[in-house]
Amino acid sequence: MNNIEQTLSIVKPDAVERNLEGKIKEMFLNNGFKIVQEKKIQIEKHEAEKFYKVHEIKPFYNDLCAYLSSGPIVVMILEKENAIVANRELMGSTNPKDAAEGTIRKKFGISIDKNSVHGSDSVENAKIEIDFFFKS
Ligand code: CMP
Repeated sequence: MNNIEQTLSIVKPDAVERNLEGKIKEMFLNNGFKIVQEKKIQIEKHEAEKFYKVHEIKPFYNDLCAYLSSGPIVVMILEKENAIVANRELMGSTNPKDAAEGTIRKKFGISIDKNSVHGSDSVENAKIEIDFFFKS
């Protein structure tokens, strides 16, 4: 049975700053993802705080939101069979030093904060995150 899903991907400021957008998009396409919509934007800190609200109580919340709003990002809707899990596999572990060979974070991530990409972690959050950036 087909289980075509959509997930939200963000190319974070550290990766956009190093001109890695094209290489990361190529990895998505080479792994069978379709890029349904994309845009390059810069968000305000209060928008980052809304986006990362699930992490509100975490000690790293403030730095995380300051970082996501510190420079341009590329937000994309990716589509593929089981896209949410497939994207998380392709991204690799949150901390680049734990990420498997061949993953985006292993290749390009600098630190747990500057880990180059974000991807939705569940079907429910994918819907919320896609709406956050793409619902007009
Ligand atoms: P992301 O997938 O965008 O989701 C939340 C982000 O918080 C995560 O990637 C990391 O970049 C960042 N972060 C910073 N510190 C931590 C931590 N200790 N544990 C998990 N995520 C962290």
